[in-house]
Amino acid sequence: MKARKTILVTSCKGGIGKSTVTLNLGAALAERGLKVLIIDFDLANRCLDLFSGHENDIVYDFGDVYLGRLSAERAVIQCGFEGRLMLCAAPCDAKIDISSDITEILRTFEKIIDASDAEYVIIDCSGSDAMPSELSAKLADSAIIVTSHQPAAIRAAEHTGFNLYDSGITEIRLIVNFFDCASVKKGERRGIIEIIDGCRIQIIGAVPYDKSLEIAQEKGINALQLKKSDAGCAFRNIAARICGKNVPLFYGMKNFSKRKLFF
Ligand SMILES: Nc1ncnc2c1ncn2[C@@H]1O[C@H](COP(=O)(O)OP(=O)(O)OP(=O)(O)O)[C@@H](O)[C@H]1O
Ligand SMILES: [Mg+2]
Repeated sequence: MKARKTILVTSCKGGIGKSTVTLNLGAALAERGLKVLIIDFDLANRCLDLFSGHENDIVYDFGDVYLGRLSAERAVIQCGFEGRLMLCAAPCDAKIDISSDITEILRTFEKIIDASDAEYVIIDCSGSDAMPSELSAKLADSAIIVTSHQPAAIRAAEHTGFNLYDSGITEIRLIVNFFDCASVKKGERRGIIEIIDGCRIQIIGAVPYDKSLEIAQEKGINALQLKKSDAGCAFRNIAARICGKNVPLFYGMKNFSKRKLFF
C-alpha cells in the first residue's frame, strides 16, 4: 500500500483550508508532470468536486466503491493537466461507519489508488475524528497539517500533530494558510516563527490570504490558473519542496520583500 507517496491533509480545526490545500497542491504537483490523485474524504461535506469545477462530471464516488456497486476506475475522474490530476469524490449517499469498518475502508482506498496509478495521493481529511489513527497510519506515509495565525488553529495543529505522530506517521509538515504579511508586520498577528513554535511542526509552506483565490474557488478555478497570484506561487513552491527542491519560504511572491521574511 505504501509504494506511492500518500499525503494526508488534515487539521482538527474546521475551515482552515484543508480542501484548498489538497486541490491546489495536487494541481501544482500535476503541473510538474506528476500523476496525482486527490481523494475527498470529507464524509460530511464533500467539496473538491466544486472547488475543481468538476461537480457535473461526478457520477460515482468513494461510497459506490465501498459498497461494491462498481469498479474503482469509475469513481476516479480526470481534472485537467492532460489527465495527470485525478479526483475521487467523497460519498454522497453511502453511510460509512468510520470507526468500525477500517478494514473495508482501507480496502476501498487501495482499490481506488491502484486504479488511478497515481504517483502522489493526497487525501483531504476533515476534522479530528474523521480518520481514526489506525487508518491514518496504514494509509499515509506523511501528513500536512494546515493552520493559520489564530491561536485556536495553532493549538489544533499541535494537537493533530501529536495524534498523527502517536499513530505512527512521523513525516509531518505544516502549512500556514491565510498568511497576512501586513498584519504581522504591524505586530497584530503571530509571525511564522511564533506559529512554528506553537505547533511544533516543521513548516513546508506559507500560503497568503488571497481574496482572488477565494472568489475563483467559487467558480471552480484553482490558484495556479490565477495570473500573478501569490497563493498560486505558494502552492508551486510547496510542490517543489515535496519534490526535493530547496525553495525559500516566500520565493517569487510579489508582496513579500526579503526584509519581511524575518519575523
Ligand atoms: N489562502 C486563502 N486565501 C483566501 N481564501 C482562502 C484561502 N484558503 C482557503 N480559503 C477559503 O476559505 C474557505 C475555507 O477553506 P476550505 O474549504 O479549504 O477549508 P477546510 O479546512 O477544508 O474546511 P472544512 O473544515 O469545512 O472542510 C473557502 O471559502 C476557501 O476558498
Ligand atoms: Mg474541507
